[in-house]
Amino acid sequence: MSDYRILVTGATGQIGSELTVTLREKYGKDNVIAMGHRRKPSKTLEESGPYITGDVRDRENLEKIIREYDIDTVYHMAAILSATGENNPQLCWDVNVNGLYNLLEIAREKRIRIFCPSSIAVFGPSTPKENTPQDTILTPTTMYGITKVVGELLGEYYVQKYGVDVRGVRYPGIISSETPPGGGTTDYAVEMFYYAVKGEKYTCFVREDTVLPMMYMPDCLKATIQLMEADFSRLKHHTNFNVSGMSFSAKELEEEIRKYRPDFECEYKPDFRQKIAETWPRTIDDSCARQEWGWKPDYDLEKMVEDMMKRLSKKLR
Ligand code: SER
Repeated sequence: MSDYRILVTGATGQIGSELTVTLREKYGKDNVIAMGHRRKPSKTLEESGPYITGDVRDRENLEKIIREYDIDTVYHMAAILSATGENNPQLCWDVNVNGLYNLLEIAREKRIRIFCPSSIAVFGPSTPKENTPQDTILTPTTMYGITKVVGELLGEYYVQKYGVDVRGVRYPGIISSETPPGGGTTDYAVEMFYYAVKGEKYTCFVREDTVLPMMYMPDCLKATIQLMEADFSRLKHHTNFNVSGMSFSAKELEEEIRKYRPDFECEYKPDFRQKIAETWPRTIDDSCARQEWGWKPDYDLEKMVEDMMKRLSKKLR
């Protein structure tokens, strides 16, 4: 097995729940502690290894957990996403910035490695939208995006100033079948599947021509673990890697799903999330991730939809 002792914050979330189980398979179940906050853990998660509750804003408690479980690596998945963040910007700042700051301060003293995800939400209206470069203009207009820019910069500061090992990728919208996402702008790309499989009509909250970068969960887990296993001394970037999976419009997704559910109906009624989507890139240039740690995705739109339909049909039967 391994010597790693891992804490996953946000372990009940869309990514955290699957990441925890994957890390347990890889590093041994008792070496991976799952920490959730408000959401109840699924049975799969609870039965797969140790589970605790805690709030990343409570530094004392975080310190205690890290000491008691002898943690040396934290996958910091706890965050408030873009749409929820616009409804409660103060909470978004508190959880995303103060939570990370707490962890970085503990890491500075205890030499802990940290994975902290960033997001395509760091980009803004003045960022080039096609093939968005690694090092480019960061002018987010959402509180979520602002907290993720702060996170990238703060993490890099701890790398440079204190030699702490902090790493992160800019996740695109993540599509998965195990745990639904909560409060993001890209959630429509997951919701559409659930409605289609249940035989219900879906009302999509972005316009049909909205194109955003997306990634299937197996690629998301691969990127996360691969970056954490990369040789740190070879990395030129640390906390802000662009990673690309696929890009498609909402309509293209609808049409791909209809190949499996010919009766599937979808209408488009954009709400406030349309505006957020319009400030984000359409396609991403991830050549730095490819060069520095060998990133390469496995799933395109066709392959992802085929697998999602198979899994969700089984799950919702
Ligand atoms: N999926 C996230 C969101 O929509 C982006 O990182 O908020």
